[in-house]
Amino acid sequence: MKVAAVIVAAGRGERAGQSTEGPKQYRRIGGEAVLSHTLRAFLDCSHVGLIVSVIHPEDRHLYEQATGAVGARAITVIGGPTRQESTRLGLLALIEHQPDFVLIHDGVRPFIAQDLLQRIVQTLHPAIGVLPALAVSDTLKQAGPDAHVVATVPRAGLYAAQTPQAFPFAPILDAHEAAYRAGRSDFTDDAAIAEWHGLAVRVVEGSADNTKLTWAKDIEMADKRFAQDHG
Ligand code: C5P
Repeated sequence: MKVAAVIVAAGRGERAGQSTEGPKQYRRIGGEAVLSHTLRAFLDCSHVGLIVSVIHPEDRHLYEQATGAVGARAITVIGGPTRQESTRLGLLALIEHQPDFVLIHDGVRPFIAQDLLQRIVQTLHPAIGVLPALAVSDTLKQAGPDAHVVATVPRAGLYAAQTPQAFPFAPILDAHEAAYRAGRSDFTDDAAIAEWHGLAVRVVEGSADNTKLTWAKDIEMADKRFAQDHG
């Protein structure tokens, strides 16, 4: 079974604000770039073979600085204007390697742990995608434009999606190519593209630690978390 990974890291991270260290995937937490933590988790996973890092054309130097000599297991390709397009370009780079499965992960989720990777790899199936997710525990409210609550949304059966999402390679590439041809660029994760294209997706338990760094405060908290965990 050949398993590859696509790590998307071509965004500008505008919501995290400006930093002299560059976009958020290159900000330092625990003394190292966010992306180097993320990449290391995949390099440490013996089930994963080739890793494609999808980066922005202006970030080559930052990537090389952050990741150093990662060796032949990780290649880079240039991403596109949306996460969806960056993912598609990462998948295209894998065609010549013909993996059976691909794990697609946000470069800005550096706390991805080996036990979650194991859980996902153990659930791989040739006709089903795998989505790590957490059952929603907060009470959900729907509010109108005036901020007045109009409904309480039942949360039974609702999950918050994480990455890495894992798929049989050929079907997820087909799904991405179909979305591209259809001019659809509004999908917010790969599972949504799979669902739209008719590929079944099942949930496995995600991890509360596997947070996505979006805002400046997320990066500060991640840095503190590293100091606590490894200090
Ligand atoms: O911006 P956001 O945090 O939602 O992005 C999620 C992931 O997708 C990040 O790792 C980001 O670098 C990546 N991305 C990308 N290409 C884009 C936009 C986002 O690879 N054009």
